Amino acid sequence: MSNLSDSPDRFGLVSRAFHWGMAALFAAQFLSAAAHWALPRESALRGTLWSYHTNLGTTLFLLVLLRGVWGLLNLRNRPAHANFIGQAAKLGHLALYALMVIVPAVRLVASAGGTRGFSYFGISIFPARETAIAWTQVAAEWHGAMGWILAALVLGHIAMAVVWHRLIKRDDVLSQMA
Ligand code: HEM
Ligand code: HEM
Repeated sequence: MSNLSDSPDRFGLVSRAFHWGMAALFAAQFLSAAAHWALPRESALRGTLWSYHTNLGTTLFLLVLLRGVWGLLNLRNRPAHANFIGQAAKLGHLALYALMVIVPAVRLVASAGGTRGFSYFGISIFPARETAIAWTQVAAEWHGAMGWILAALVLGHIAMAVVWHRLIKRDDVLSQMA
């Protein structure tokens, strides 16, 4: 059990599996969003990269909920954040969590109240409606912009881990998650 759970010295196997597994899936999700943004509609590559966006986005939504529960169960045993910069890192992680939930959630709410219906890997989750429920569509207008803010935060997060902790401070923060 001790290897699986977090400890004050390092993140346990489950947290590390969530972290690196989801990091890889987020890379694929941002690639799909970038293709949607940058490539012409008729591009076959855009079609391929976009084809998994809703299934992967929904999977990430479910995973972040599980990861959040696991994080809360381990909250008292995780590597601590001392001083001011450590507290700022905590806030940064909280912002990552908030956007990891909100970005897919607003689209899923829009799908629940929208006219197209919604399926997850071929299983119908929300049936199509004749008319959309107006309020469900409002926040989804911000889905793309918030998704790009999340991408920018992730880039900052990687820079802090690699440049600040690994190259400048040369501390063991990266190895706590590696
Ligand atoms: C954490 C998960 C997700 C991330 C990071 C994400 C990210 C993004 C980003 C950055 C864009 C903008 C692309 C552009 O500029 O052209 C976008 C667009 C879009 N996403 Fe997602 N997405 C996620 C989950 C989902 C889910 C679960 C759905 C559907 C249920 C969805 C449906 C769409 C649609 C329809 C668009 C195009 C319209 C728009 O920009 O709102 N996404 N997504
Ligand atoms: C190459 C990519 C990445 C590297 C090198 C990296 C590195 C790290 C390190 C070293 C920690 C521990 C920091 C600490 O204890 O203060 C951490 C924690 C964290 N990372 Fe990353 N990370 C990467 C990608 C990502 C991505 C893509 C996300 C989310 C979209 C993410 C979200 C988090 C969160 C929320 C934490 C807090 C601990 C937790 O609840 O899992 N990271 N990361």
